[in-house]
Amino acid sequence: MERKTIYLIGFMGAGKTSIGQVLGEKTGLPVIDTDERFEEYTGIAIRDFFEQYGEERFREKETEILLSLPNRPSIITTGGGIILKEKNRQFLKETGRVVFLQCRPDVFLDRLKDDQTRPLIMNKTVAEISEMYEKRLPLYLESAAISIDTSDFSIEEAADYIMKRM
Ligand code: S3P
Repeated sequence: MERKTIYLIGFMGAGKTSIGQVLGEKTGLPVIDTDERFEEYTGIAIRDFFEQYGEERFREKETEILLSLPNRPSIITTGGGIILKEKNRQFLKETGRVVFLQCRPDVFLDRLKDDQTRPLIMNKTVAEISEMYEKRLPLYLESAAISIDTSDFSIEEAADYIMKRM
């Protein structure tokens, strides 16, 4: 595997964080999670940030964090909406290998059903969440060098699959 930054992108519940952790263990590369960075940097939980400042401000800060990540080989797990900004998509493509963790809606909906931490899916219907996914799908695909459907893979299998293709 080439020693280069790997970005994991994909919808909420696709397994970015857990697969990223295993990839980090297997490669020995440091793992950075943009959501975690966000909370460290702002000192406030993402859910509360949305409530107080709204999505627009969240996106601005998220971009700031992405663009200021250390420029060295690492595994970067990103928030599901990172691809919404053109600037971010450009940055991802220019600075690393982008892996899209694809996932069937029935699988991520099931994983997310009891989640209380993600403001964008709280109080949303299954149809609304699926629609958000459909809208984002072309942006994930456009940003990624490789795509992998994680729906029927274990975390371990997904990490091995990515390593073989890097
Ligand atoms: C978001 C996904 C979340 C987090 C925020 C917004 C999104 O990250 O960044 O709640 O817009 O898809 P995960 O994809 O890690 O859940």
